[in-house]
Amino acid sequence: MTSTAQVPPSGGRAAHPDHLGHVIFITAAAAMGGFLFGYDSSVINGAVEAIRSRYDIGSAALAQVIAIALIGCAIGAATAGRIADRIGRIRCMQISAVLFTISAVGSALPFDIYDLAVWRVIGGFAIGMASVIGPAYIAEVSPAAYRGRLGSFQQAAIVVGIAISQLVNYGILQLADGDQRGKLLGLEAWQWMLGVMVIPALLYGLLSFAIPESPRFLISVGRVGRAKEVLAEVESKDVDLDARVAEIEQAMRREHKSTFKDLLGGGGFFFLPIVWVGIGLSVFQQLVGINVAFYYSATLWQSVGIDPSSSFFYSFTTSIVNIIGTVIAMVLVDRVGRKPLALTGSIGMAVALACEAWAFSAKLVDGKLPGTEGTVALIAAHVFVLFFALSWGVIVWVFLGEMFPNRIRAAALGVAASAQWIANWAITASFPSLADWNLSGTYVIYACFATLSIPFVVLFVKETKGKTLEEMG
Ligand code: GLC
Repeated sequence: MTSTAQVPPSGGRAAHPDHLGHVIFITAAAAMGGFLFGYDSSVINGAVEAIRSRYDIGSAALAQVIAIALIGCAIGAATAGRIADRIGRIRCMQISAVLFTISAVGSALPFDIYDLAVWRVIGGFAIGMASVIGPAYIAEVSPAAYRGRLGSFQQAAIVVGIAISQLVNYGILQLADGDQRGKLLGLEAWQWMLGVMVIPALLYGLLSFAIPESPRFLISVGRVGRAKEVLAEVESKDVDLDARVAEIEQAMRREHKSTFKDLLGGGGFFFLPIVWVGIGLSVFQQLVGINVAFYYSATLWQSVGIDPSSSFFYSFTTSIVNIIGTVIAMVLVDRVGRKPLALTGSIGMAVALACEAWAFSAKLVDGKLPGTEGTVALIAAHVFVLFFALSWGVIVWVFLGEMFPNRIRAAALGVAASAQWIANWAITASFPSLADWNLSGTYVIYACFATLSIPFVVLFVKETKGKTLEEMG
């Protein structure tokens, strides 16, 4: 490695260059939870129509079966923090891996629709846990100068999970001659789509045995010797380990014990302001309508006259743009900081959403958007996803992992992440009715939320680039 490569991209402590590869491995292993999060939450799209026909249920019942998984996510996210504080981050990952595995098997082989719903809730619970434990653990093991970039592995894994689930679904569909209910080795195609998740789930479980427990958790349970070993593994060789342990212990003493009650302010009714900022970031991330682009894109494009196979293609191209934007954010997050990226993203998203609203306001000709509006809608949809990916997609998960003081981190992250799942549920569940009411109007609403996120960031969000987690306290 050249000497310039050893210079950290921003302030804070440098990682020992020899250890950086190891820290990247640890981060990537923990981010497998993010991969499963992306994979599991979007895999269902390929199976929806087959489930509807297999169990002969109407749209409303089908929507319940799908949305119920998001409620599982919210509960998993709300409880993961406590579990992680009590039994450790690694055990928490292992529980989540076991739940992912049994949910994949159960969802692929359900007795009936209720059974399927139960397995989806269990899978949702695992997603919720993974959505909390990944960012918390990664923030806790990353050296400050690289924390943003390493934290963005979580989102990178989510977006890769989304794209791979679509590719795998497509591949399975081809093997089953284009029929979601076509037979493959005794099972129907959609059962394979849900069951294939066993592979990444098992890998996640195995990898969790190869990575160390978080130093902050070890210190909180009095295993200071082991914590020093882990700190030596992940931080700079110049760091004085005794001083680091003392710094972490002191930061913990300053703060309260991490219980739900401690997230409340003095009055007992309101969360601490920092918790509200976390909730705001989470909720705005969803209110711009990002998951409409991922859960409903095929339906959306078909509703304005694009044929099914092209609409599948556009779902895939948006997920590729999502990956590209995420890589851009990973490069920039520790250089330009979280706030400038978030603001750039908000502006870009607001403009793109306004263009979509304009395009969708056109009258359909023969069930199709006219040429110009059709092109604008397609380009704007991709631009929207690009700006989301290079900003809020990555930054919110990075912020949530690092913005809370040590002792409330896990619990606060749990609350903020469950707020995100509830907001996700509200947007996904309301889209079909809103679109029936007025597609253009729906996009105006999302554009307004993107615009409102600008003053929110300017007024309430503090930059965290290059600070140690203890300095955040
Ligand atoms: C973020 C969001 C998630 C969304 C994804 C899309 O991770 O939290 O809801 O599906 O970005 O890339």
